[in-house]
Amino acid sequence: MPFPDTTPRTDSDHDRRMRWFREARFGMFIHFGLYSSAGGVWNGRDLPGVGEWLMSNGRIPVSEYQQLLERFNPVAFDADAWAKTAKDAGMRYLVLTSKHHDGFCLWDSDHTDWDVMSTPFRRDILQELSGACRRHGVKFCLYHSIMDWHHPDYLPRPGWDKRSTDGVDFDRYVAYMKNQLKEIVRKYGPLGILWFDGEWEPTWTHERGLDLYRTVRSLQRDILINNRVDKGRNGMQGLTTDERYAGDFGTPEQEIPPTGLPGVDWESCMTMNTSWGYKASDTRWKSSDELLRNLIDIASKGGNYLLNVGPDGRGEIPAASRDRLRDIGVWMRRNGQAIHGTVANPFKTVPAWGRVTRKEGRPGDTLYLHVFDSKTKRVAFPHPGATPVRASVLGSSVKPAVSNTASGFELDVPDLGASTIRVVKVDLAGKVSVA
Ligand code: GLC
Repeated sequence: MPFPDTTPRTDSDHDRRMRWFREARFGMFIHFGLYSSAGGVWNGRDLPGVGEWLMSNGRIPVSEYQQLLERFNPVAFDADAWAKTAKDAGMRYLVLTSKHHDGFCLWDSDHTDWDVMSTPFRRDILQELSGACRRHGVKFCLYHSIMDWHHPDYLPRPGWDKRSTDGVDFDRYVAYMKNQLKEIVRKYGPLGILWFDGEWEPTWTHERGLDLYRTVRSLQRDILINNRVDKGRNGMQGLTTDERYAGDFGTPEQEIPPTGLPGVDWESCMTMNTSWGYKASDTRWKSSDELLRNLIDIASKGGNYLLNVGPDGRGEIPAASRDRLRDIGVWMRRNGQAIHGTVANPFKTVPAWGRVTRKEGRPGDTLYLHVFDSKTKRVAFPHPGATPVRASVLGSSVKPAVSNTASGFELDVPDLGASTIRVVKVDLAGKVSVA
């Protein structure tokens, strides 16, 4: 397939491909693999660091780490339950780790035995989850690590790995990775996203990144590919601005860019506690309210929220995560229209009472005022350049009167009894236009 000559993010098809992603605003990240059955513990020791880095955190040689193959048996894994948990929380897509840094593959791969078929579980997790996602109307996406601590041809070798490097060939590793990507797109596609990671090592170059981007796009024309396929991500802030680098969207990690980045698509991935992979001892959970504020904050800046769960060794999403997702789902059923399909706050300032999202419409746009504090009684907002024609409070029958102020408008927000974030919908007579 000929690839457009332009740089990846500016080809003419980009906006069409991005449409579902911009509409979705909210997705689920799932870190699941061999490490999930260890839960952060190795030889009785609770290792410091994130759960999915177990091999590195414990400096565990491949020959020892292999013990986990025998232990991987997530008998409670229920693909429909995972997909439904995402759906019910108001998430439109999910991104599962087909392969994390330890190289272990969650599907039945023709190219390696370092896969789920070598475990007592012997069930193809990608197959089951892609089917469940189709049934529940959730877009199925995969995370795939470029860095691989297991494959004999991957370089550089981590310091704790004492295997001989005689005859090692990084190009052969790249061929293996491409064959696997071909395999997963063919077997489990079409995919929403191929979400790369582990691109930071010196063996991975801009040329290789661009080549991989093009290879994957040739497998499925409308697939989205994140910016970690290439070298332009700019650390944890994750936003690629230089158009020479490949990647359809930026990937801030554990942070929300203070002002978003107009003109560039991005998605903040964040954990609910502090680990991506399951870690039994990590109980530092953020509250449902904090997670919800993050979702709204991100949407108000024009980004997506990829919220992580780390299912445990039995294949279950931890109860603490499920509780939070249920709370978010309750809010989303009432207020989801203020998130899905919205664009960033059009004003130059962020209001002290909360956040603003906007929906483009005809004859006029809609503003959504997200009021964070349950004690706030009245909110003001600047003149949006079009007159408000009506206001309503989502999930209630209250229609607040909108009054003029010197610089814009003001309205009362009713007390809805609960301590939840309230959303006022303001329909405008025309398009927003803010000087
Ligand atoms: C990182 C980590 C990794 C995690 C990921 C999520 O780069 O290496 O463990 O999967 O970010 O964004």
